Amino acid sequence: MNILVTGSSGQLGSELRTISPHCGGLHFFFYDLPELDITRCEQVDRVCQEHGIEVIVNCAAYTAVDRAESDAEAAFMVNRDGVAVLAACAKDRQALLVHISTDYVFNGESCVPYRETDTASPICVYGLSKWEGEEQIRQISPSHLIIRTSWLYSGFGNNFVKSMLRLGADHQMLNVVFDQVGTPTYASDLASAIVSILEKHERHYHYAETYHYSNEGVCSWYDFAWTIMKARDLQCRVLPITSNEYPTIARRPHFSVLHKAKIKKDWELDIPHWYDGLERMLKHSC
Ligand SMILES: NC(=O)c1ccc[n+]([C@@H]2O[C@H](COP(=O)([O-])OP(=O)(O)OC[C@H]3O[C@@H](n4cnc5c(N)ncnc54)[C@H](OP(=O)(O)O)[C@@H]3O)[C@@H](O)[C@H]2O)c1
Repeated sequence: MNILVTGSSGQLGSELRTISPHCGGLHFFFYDLPELDITRCEQVDRVCQEHGIEVIVNCAAYTAVDRAESDAEAAFMVNRDGVAVLAACAKDRQALLVHISTDYVFNGESCVPYRETDTASPICVYGLSKWEGEEQIRQISPSHLIIRTSWLYSGFGNNFVKSMLRLGADHQMLNVVFDQVGTPTYASDLASAIVSILEKHERHYHYAETYHYSNEGVCSWYDFAWTIMKARDLQCRVLPITSNEYPTIARRPHFSVLHKAKIKKDWELDIPHWYDGLERMLKHSC
């Protein structure tokens, strides 16, 4: 099976590239900017044609959550319009589109884990652009799997874990918000889940599903930061503060834990706890 991975130099794309040599029967083709811009349909069509692509895994996205507030046009161009280009290409080729979305499609007012059927109501430009991208796929592409995830980190790229390690090494104290609760997700675990799904999916079946995937467990950014310091024996004290005490340009949901029963049942996935993911990431990558 020939699989195109877009945005392949990002966190998730890089994790997929790392495990790809161990996936017999799955032939991956990795592309990122500038060779493949998902907003350019002639580029997407050419690459798909060249490699006989049967599945597109879209890891490309505009992910700068705060910058998106003042750069909405660019965020929508990639996260909505680029996704529509991929959906149209997948439809023309009768290919499956696997697309990654976000917990930020929710407003965070719930206090129980979000299910796939819960109403999306994004509170920031990034979240809205990702939601509109999802909707493009549902309208255009008859065969798709949309997988929402949360708080991604990896040994590749920039992320919260790496920032904490860097700041923890040269600060005695750090303030971190405790009133945003969710689940960190090791991008390597999400990459393994995607591979597992691709190995099990039936080629000629038309899937049209939305799923939630994060690691197991729940924590606040404060808990996550504290655990990172502890795991690395860093002496930096982590102090809990509220989001009001740490204003950001974009609003973020206070609660975005994802309910994962559907993906676990449909694809027989065993999902590691976030603490286990963190330990493996620290062992392998940093
Ligand atoms: N990071 C998180 O915490 C998080 C949480 C929930 C969901 N997600 C979703 O998970 C997915 C993977 O996230 P990630 O953290 O791996 O993202 P990432 O590290 O930011 O990688 C995204 C990649 O897409 C590339 N890209 C941007 N615009 C593009 C375009 N027009 N055409 C082709 N490639 C383009 C980026 O290139 P440049 O770097 O050159 O722009 C980058 O290499 C995304 O859909 C994201 O929305 C992420």
